[in-house]
Amino acid sequence: MARIIVMTSGKGGVGKTTVTANLGMHLASKNYRVCLVDMDIGLNNLDVVMNMEDRIVYTMLDVIEKKCRIREALVQDDCYPLLYLLSSGGLNQNLTIQLSQIKGVISELSTMFDYILIDCPAGIDAGFKRAVSCADEALVITTPHLSSLRDADKVITILSSYNITSKRFVINRARGDLIQDKLMFDVYDVGKTLGIEFGGVIPEDDSVITNTSDKIKNFKIALNRAFDILSDNIITGKKKLFDCTYKYKGFFGSIKKLLKRSV
Ligand SMILES: Nc1ncnc2c1ncn2[C@@H]1O[C@H](COP(=O)(O)OP(=O)(O)O)[C@@H](O)[C@H]1O
Ligand SMILES: [Mg+2]
Repeated sequence: MARIIVMTSGKGGVGKTTVTANLGMHLASKNYRVCLVDMDIGLNNLDVVMNMEDRIVYTMLDVIEKKCRIREALVQDDCYPLLYLLSSGGLNQNLTIQLSQIKGVISELSTMFDYILIDCPAGIDAGFKRAVSCADEALVITTPHLSSLRDADKVITILSSYNITSKRFVINRARGDLIQDKLMFDVYDVGKTLGIEFGGVIPEDDSVITNTSDKIKNFKIALNRAFDILSDNIITGKKKLFDCTYKYKGFFGSIKKLLKRSV
């Protein structure tokens, strides 16, 4: 049976879709069978980030309405053969769909994969409830900013009324130069605020934005390393830390920091 993990945050734009896609790629590159499920029904863009939008023929709605079999609705990644996407596009056009039907699809998927990663919508309304109800574990994605942390904290409180056995936080868009100068919350501050287990740290890096079709082979080393550690932490339960301050240590590090700040 698959581990079913929902990526949630409360706040929008903090990196749920980015982490879902990249964690999926890293797990698949380690020989796990992974299915990404886009449950951000209103603003679904996981297919775009995965560069699969032209290949979606059927969605979860078609599976529920028995227009196709589940295998026909899965789109295989072109770089990682163990990685698939199930789109939920169109699900909000049919208001008669029940949560039990969505859970039925997820439960069928869980017999076919090792990991199911669910991309959750922002907010805490119906779409959030639906995504969270299908999962056993949660990764709470936050940036190291007060507004994002506050929303993450609210989500964590709400998650306790669901059947979620493991909750971990992931800090996205961490800036080593600011953390080193104590101008940004670090992993210890965030851990103390959120009070759940540590999952990983992903640095702020523009290459994540331009990476839609090139996939991880073209990622900058630091970003690759951070997602590699995150995926290892998920697989093994370890709490290894990616240190995003490392480039700013020492003499050359302080020059890099000055250059970054002067842009
Ligand atoms: N670590 C990062 N470094 C730089 N940009 C990032 C990073 N993570 C996400 N982004 C960018 O932030 C924007 C929002 O990310 P996204 O994953 O769509 O957030 P969400 O799914 O939570 O709304 C996207 O343009 C994405 O490319
Ligand atoms: Mg998103």
